[in-house]
Amino acid sequence: MSLPTRSRGIAVYPDRPGAIHRTEVEVPTVGPNDVLIETVRVGVCGTDREIIHGTIGAPQEGADELVLGHELLGRVRAIGDAVHDLAEGSFVTATVRRPDSCPACRAGQPDMCVWGKYEERGIVGLHGFMQEHIVERRDDVIPVPDELEPVGVLVEPLTVIEKSLRHVDLVQSARMPWWEAKTALVLGAGPIGILGTMLLRSRGVEVITAARSEQPNLSASVIEGAGATYLSTREASLDSAAKRLGQIDVIIDCSGASGVGFDAMRLLGVNGALVLLSINAGGHRVEIPADAINNGIVAGNKTIIGIVNAGQEDFASAVQHLGRFEELWPGLLSRMFTARIPFDGDVESIIEKSPGSIKTLIEFGG
Ligand code: BGC
Repeated sequence: MSLPTRSRGIAVYPDRPGAIHRTEVEVPTVGPNDVLIETVRVGVCGTDREIIHGTIGAPQEGADELVLGHELLGRVRAIGDAVHDLAEGSFVTATVRRPDSCPACRAGQPDMCVWGKYEERGIVGLHGFMQEHIVERRDDVIPVPDELEPVGVLVEPLTVIEKSLRHVDLVQSARMPWWEAKTALVLGAGPIGILGTMLLRSRGVEVITAARSEQPNLSASVIEGAGATYLSTREASLDSAAKRLGQIDVIIDCSGASGVGFDAMRLLGVNGALVLLSINAGGHRVEIPADAINNGIVAGNKTIIGIVNAGQEDFASAVQHLGRFEELWPGLLSRMFTARIPFDGDVESIIEKSPGSIKTLIEFGG
């Protein structure tokens, strides 16, 4: 059977904000260590929208367009001669970042890249996964069990949370072997906030997840479905969450709003860990009670960790945990899929996030 040589995809011109369009790119030949993947579906996230609007993102050198997409679920269509552990037809996803030659990348940790000359699928320097066929190195491909086909597209967004809690565990266990997170505040109720809530809940942590939208809303009901409490900051203050939890051991800020992280520093409990995940474009300024925040961090031995991207181990644990979430809360993850757009359909509708939507998927039908 002949292999495809062209792949139709959805791309942007990074220097023309909003110019989302269909394109066609070449499919590289499959080398001995490569995997040819047929795309099943791709998730759309906030990063994609920032690329569409021209705030971040860059095509490959010499190219004027970038195929979007870094949240993939695909099927193995063909494997190179040296690949012996993947079956044709099985489901897979792929990591996002490709290394430069810095010490971290050479040590196998491109997610901790020092030089910043890495490439990221669908974000910087490499076409992404919103296309029909993709060729990846086996090392960058992550198997997804058949039973996770309906939710496997969430592996990549979950990896960011996996890395967050892995780093919290590493830091906290190194400085306090007795420490255990009992309470957590998640700021933001988008896909990352919801997945963060679920991962913390699956560990038995008491969680309050706060966001602006008033109740009832779909995110709130998914969050409560996982046994957490949803707090609308239009209805109650973050201080009331702190009061209710008593001591806050972990805060994850995925609100996407400048300034929220500083409030989080104020609310974090003694010895606690704050993870900052939002990248905020623009020059928004806030006034903060700097002395109080500083003194609280110092006197409370608090730690603040910035997290971007994820490592191979985070992909492996995300696959496992999606399975765990399905066991704990059957069908809950799928409630996050608020729109499915066929590849040949109205892809322009992804340009703006529609109110109340959580995760939009582009369906390729592969
Ligand atoms: C992706 C990461 C990536 C980051 C910054 C996020 O949306 O999940 O893999 O490193 O954007 O480009």
